[in-house]
This record gives sequence, C-alpha cells and structure tokens, in this order.
Amino acid sequence: MPSQATSLYPTSFGRPSKIAVIGAGAVGTAVAYAAAIRGDARDIALYDINAEKVRAEALDIAHGIQFTPCGSVVGSDDIEVVRASDLVIVTAGAKQSPGQSRLELAESTVKLMEKVVPALQEVAPDAVYMFVTNPVDIVTYVAQKISGLPASQVFGSGTVLDTSRLRYLVSQETGVATQNIHAYVAGEHGDSEVPLWSSAEIGNVPLTQWGTTLSGRVFGRDLRDEIAHEVVNSAYTIIDGKGATNYAIGLAASRIAGAVLRDEARVLTISTLLNDWHGISDVCMAAPTIVGRSGAGRVLVPPVTDDERQGLQQSAEKLREVARSFGY
Ligand code: LAC
Repeated sequence: MPSQATSLYPTSFGRPSKIAVIGAGAVGTAVAYAAAIRGDARDIALYDINAEKVRAEALDIAHGIQFTPCGSVVGSDDIEVVRASDLVIVTAGAKQSPGQSRLELAESTVKLMEKVVPALQEVAPDAVYMFVTNPVDIVTYVAQKISGLPASQVFGSGTVLDTSRLRYLVSQETGVATQNIHAYVAGEHGDSEVPLWSSAEIGNVPLTQWGTTLSGRVFGRDLRDEIAHEVVNSAYTIIDGKGATNYAIGLAASRIAGAVLRDEARVLTISTLLNDWHGISDVCMAAPTIVGRSGAGRVLVPPVTDDERQGLQQSAEKLREVARSFGY
C-alpha cells in the first residue's frame, strides 16, 4: 500500500497554504511572526508600500525560519507577492493615538480600503479575507460591500482579542487556566463591546456561581464591571505606555488564521455580517462564530439577558451610524 504523502502543513486547501499579511507595521509584523511560529501556513508573504521596511521585516523573520515550522517568509512592495494566497490578513491603516477611539480612525481607513480591496482581489480573488485594521467592524462591512464577495469569505478579527483579555482577567481572579474560562465578548471591537457574563462559565460552573475568588470577592456586579472596564480600556492603557498594541493582536489573528487553514470549526468571536442575530441585521460586529476553511460559518446565538441584548443593539446601532456616514 503506497504510503499517503503527508505534509508538514495542514492541507485544507488541497496543498500547503499561503498567508499574505498586508501592512508591515507593528501589528502586521506581529501577525507574520506569530503565524511563522504557529506553522499553519508553509508560505508567508508580507506586503507594504514601504519597500525597505517590508523587506527588512520579512528578512528578520526569515532568518529565524530554522526555529519554526514555517517554510518561507518574503516581503515586497510589489502586490504580486500576495498572488495565490489562501488567506489575506489586512492590517494596513492608521493606528490609534493616545486617547483616540478606534471609530475615530474610520475616515482614513475607509478611504484606504476603497483602494486596497480591489487591488488585492486582482491577485487573490479566491482568498479568504480577514481584516484587523481598525475600526475593524466598519472596515469589514465596507470591505464586504466593495468586494462583493460572500459574507463568509470576508470577516474581521472582531473581539477575539477582547475575549482573550476577559479570559485573562477572570483567570487572574480565579487561578484557573485561561483555556478553561468560557466567556465571550461580543459587539463592537471597541468602547461599546459587551461581555456576555450570563453565559460565562469557569470549567462547567456558571461564573456567577463560582463563589469566592482569589481576591476574596464574588463575581457580582462590581467585580464584573471592574473587569469589563479593564477589558474595554486595555488598548488605551497599552498605547499610553508603548504607543501601540501588537503582540496579543498578532497572536489572536494568527490563531484565527489557524482555524481557517486547518478547517478547525473553532468558535471565535470574529466580526461577521449579522442577520437577525438577537434582532440585529445588516451590520458587521463580533458574535461567537464557527470558523473554518471557508471563513465565517454559523453564528451561534447564546442566551443573553435583556441588558446584554440592549448593549448589543446599541453597539450595532453605533456601528451602523458610522458606516452610513461614509455612504455604506
Ligand atoms: C487592540 C487593538 C488591536 O484592541 O484594537 O489592542
């Protein structure tokens, strides 16, 4: 019996896959670096208009390939480097200044997407597109409209990072591993996001029934609000200290990439086009979604409280108002 040819790499696309990362700034390089270490794709292409920088960033990762499962990392200011990618991760765009909200970046990033999306489609028409650029929910919605691609094929990193921040803080409070904190943040990746506390569990214990935490408190309204406030303000805090966030978003985006490239059917709070989700339609925002080879799959509908539903609908209305203000 001839041995099945096995690949070092997942072959959900029928062969070892290729990721393209658009933008060689702090976030894009962190995504490329994390993806190289994860080894979900054999080939990683980094594209940026700054030729010298993108080549240097790619070379600096490529010199470490020996220590990763990755096969190749190349960088170029020629968009041809993106050709035939299976997954395109877009990080290019303005970054928040200290105290600036993500939604305040919308004007410059919408204009950028109107140029970048058609150019990317020329070289990678069949790719799955993940947007990380902020405001990610607006960018994802605009990219879907511009591209005309199926909604599943164009999604955003959403609140995968915010969900990770929430799980980190609950883990710190309880001493339980983050992997066993089953809690999600939904809505805008931004100031109006909503932690879904009512469906949160630690192990298989409802969070609100956990009992006393390491700090001697219970997960009552005060502690939940304190944690939610820290999640929403995490990026502002880090930007004040180091000018940008990049490591955790790099890890989050490369994790989502792995779910696509390995066709994992993982539940992740990506930003996707919602249709009558808790009464919310025609807006891109984060909800627990099954992620696999074709991108955004079934959107889960967790039970929510009236307060959570109201928060989600307010988040959606805010996002829709911003998208409409740019003609989308
Ligand atoms: C953050 C950026 C990715 O939340 O919006 O760190």
